[in-house]
Amino acid sequence: MTAIIGMIAVILAIIALSTGAILGNVLQDNLDGKVRETAENVLFTNESTAVRVLSTGPYTDGTVLVLRTPTSGTTGAYVDGNTARVLTAEQVADILQAVSDAPSTSAPSLTVDLPGLGDYRVTVAPTPSPDVLAIIGLPLSEVTGTVSQILLTVGLVTAGGLLLLSSIIAVVVRIGLRPLRAVADTATRVARVRMDSGDVSITERVPESETDDHTEIGQVGAALNALLDHIDASLSARQRNEELMRRFVADASHELRTPLASIRGYSELSLRDATLSDTSHAALERIQAQSLRMSALVEDLLLLARLDEGTELVYGAVDLTRLAVEAVRDAQAAGRDHEWVIDVDDEPVLLAGDVSRLHQVVANLLANARTHTPPGTVVTVSVHREGDTAVLRVHDDGPGVDPGVAEQLFERFARGDASRARKTGGTGLGLSIARAIVDGHRGTITVRSRPGDTTFEVRLPAKPADPA
Ligand SMILES: Nc1ncnc2c1ncn2[C@@H]1O[C@H](COP(=O)(O)OP(=O)(O)OP(=O)(O)O)[C@@H](O)[C@H]1O
Ligand SMILES: [Mg+2]
Repeated sequence: MTAIIGMIAVILAIIALSTGAILGNVLQDNLDGKVRETAENVLFTNESTAVRVLSTGPYTDGTVLVLRTPTSGTTGAYVDGNTARVLTAEQVADILQAVSDAPSTSAPSLTVDLPGLGDYRVTVAPTPSPDVLAIIGLPLSEVTGTVSQILLTVGLVTAGGLLLLSSIIAVVVRIGLRPLRAVADTATRVARVRMDSGDVSITERVPESETDDHTEIGQVGAALNALLDHIDASLSARQRNEELMRRFVADASHELRTPLASIRGYSELSLRDATLSDTSHAALERIQAQSLRMSALVEDLLLLARLDEGTELVYGAVDLTRLAVEAVRDAQAAGRDHEWVIDVDDEPVLLAGDVSRLHQVVANLLANARTHTPPGTVVTVSVHREGDTAVLRVHDDGPGVDPGVAEQLFERFARGDASRARKTGGTGLGLSIARAIVDGHRGTITVRSRPGDTTFEVRLPAKPADPA
């Protein structure tokens, strides 16, 4: 809009300036006519001086006369109100100079700037004898005054007009674009909705009144609504698929539990048979070990499915400090080759959560620190309160997380190549279960790792410290 107003202003300025220039020319031509007329009517004799001539007749105020006669010499005067005043020698010289400089064939009038009197249009008056020179001039100030007054008036009127015009344009544009505001507002509100996961539905729409198909802006609104309908439908479809998938995994894991239990039971029973050959005995032991492993996997899958459904967590009061201390004690028993350090505040860190699931998170992190690092690694577990957040960190000075898996560490079945090859790792579900549990508590779990310095950090909303 500023551009439009600016353009109009420039055009108006050009019009005003050219009008001024044309007007100036016309007025100057008029003045020149007056100068010529005055020049033709000057009455003088050989004895006249400029003052005497100007005193005799009715001349316009400001009229200038320079006279050179053989008897009186060169004199100059100008009309000031009712009297004629003598021109200074400098002023006279300037006039004579200008006239003698001018090419004789040029326009009869020319402009001279007289010190103290301003710009003048002067012309040589016709004289009866070639010995006599008379130059008549009239002030230009009348012309310039008129022109500048007109320019000022035009300028003021233009500025006022522009101001009015811009207010009108602003109002019209705002009214015209109001539907677009509604579209933008809708888009902004939709943009704030988190759509990456979960049951999301977009209820925001551009109001019906702003979706008139006959205007361009209305079409934008209608198009946005159509787009939002599509997105909403896709999100519902995604959610449905996810639910079906979860149900399927949960049902499948559940169904697998019973046959697995039978396999375990029968292999155990068969192992008691003393008549078994060595090969059969070894084979049955393998069957038992693998079925145990598979049971653990099935339990993990079932747990993940239930955590995803949000039905698994049982809330109660949790003392995170005690939980960590106990977990470290267990880890110490399991990992005698590692050095275990615990670092907690005197004040216990309390929070609301599922104690056995949170224990699982900590045990998982400690098992990782034990199984994915070489003997001798120092593992430090710390629990602190930071404002309203309970922070648990598991740090180890082992070789660090395999850069290949660092990105998807918390995704399902993510395992470092080394773990896969060495078979140290379990299923690769440990950290994804940990994240699902922490997410369920509205917390975050993150990792920072480089060789010799790996920290897993769990942040959970904590209860405010008990003042007692
Ligand atoms: N403290 C650690 N140091 C180095 N690598 C680690 C550490 N913790 C985890 N990792 C890497 O992250 C991968 C994923 O860990 P996660 O706990 O999810 O699976 P896992 O330990 O392999 O199997 P599971 O926990 O299911 O028995 C591991 O395979 C390992 O490569
Ligand atoms: Mg693990």
